[in-house]
Amino acid sequence: MEQRFVYMDYNATTPLRPEVKAEMIADLEVYANASSMHEAGRRARSRIEQSRASVARLIGATDPERVIFTSGGSESNNTVFATMFHLGRKGPRRGIVTTKIEHPCVLNAAKWLADEGFPVTFVDVDEYGRIRLDQLEKAVGPDTLLVSVMAANNEIGTVQDMVAVSRIAKASGAFFHSDATQSVGKIHVDVNEWGVDYMTMSCHKLYGPKGIGGLYVKTGAPLEPLIRGGHQEHGFRAGTYNNQGILGFGLAADLAREELDEYIVRIGGLRARLRDGILAAVPKSRVNGHPEHVLPNTLNVSFPGAEGEAILLSMDIEGIRVSTGSACASGSLEPSHVLLATGVGPELAHGSIRFSLGRDSTEADVDYVISKIGPIIARLRKMSTVSY
Ligand SMILES: Cc1ncc(COP(=O)(O)O)c(C=O)c1O
Repeated sequence: MEQRFVYMDYNATTPLRPEVKAEMIADLEVYANASSMHEAGRRARSRIEQSRASVARLIGATDPERVIFTSGGSESNNTVFATMFHLGRKGPRRGIVTTKIEHPCVLNAAKWLADEGFPVTFVDVDEYGRIRLDQLEKAVGPDTLLVSVMAANNEIGTVQDMVAVSRIAKASGAFFHSDATQSVGKIHVDVNEWGVDYMTMSCHKLYGPKGIGGLYVKTGAPLEPLIRGGHQEHGFRAGTYNNQGILGFGLAADLAREELDEYIVRIGGLRARLRDGILAAVPKSRVNGHPEHVLPNTLNVSFPGAEGEAILLSMDIEGIRVSTGSACASGSLEPSHVLLATGVGPELAHGSIRFSLGRDSTEADVDYVISKIGPIIARLRKMSTVSY
């Protein structure tokens, strides 16, 4: 088969959609500060408010004012945890409950609060990566300040039962936050149905620009700014508006909403083809994550007897871009904390690859990957001293 270039790392980031890129470039001419009172400033501001409405529509928020623009998922998550720091220092509730499979920006924010003396519980997940609801129920109580559970996992794609999680969180009287960075634009997201007080989004995961994201904050939920300064975003996030980033986010959100149903069916079909092809091509390979409650684009597979970095580099030589885990964890030799939490042993976790598909993926891409993976794993297994 002829060499191809296949990008299957859409969970790390997505390409900028051409139509979004074109509008952003055109908008670079609009240099006015969106906080300026003159006509040009007001025009820039009006575009920002249109984008806010677009993002709100994508997540089912009826009031666009509840969406705050940030620099991305990491900042949105940290803003929520910093808010809890301020609340917990003053109020009676201090307990933080989260899971073992969160993105490092939640895990490390939670660890920071633990260092500051907050009681923090990391709840287990089951073998498929779904939070153990029985443990969650035991972990929350009248002292719980925040329950933070990611909607879908970036490494294995497992989607949580958000309604059940939310019910438990809210019954305890705690605030409920969800990192929906990997969910928005890939599955139906509805802040009201999920009952979130806070929800994190990031634009570069939905074919928009990097460095722009959002935080949904329910009416009445408190918020402390992480960045203090001017009055932008009602004083919750200071700094001159990122006009073009916000415009790109709004456009990407509109397109994602319009295309979501088609995306779910088409990309889900490609994922099934990839999964079946890999399982047939590579003996003893096994799929990680939930068989049913999983992102349509994410497939995580363990290849016993082969090492993840070696697989990744061999695939790279064939023009295939995949990942061994989250982009933030790659480069570290630690096995994936997500796979470990699902009970995958360290050796198998080291031999696991995340394939994440996206809008530009095709059947030909999938078939190319299937054709290459068998010989690559067979070669690496021959060189390996590990029995499997
Ligand atoms: C689940 C999850 N949360 C947060 C982030 C961080 O988002 P950002 O890159 O916008 O800071 C990522 C990015 O990989 C993610 O996958």
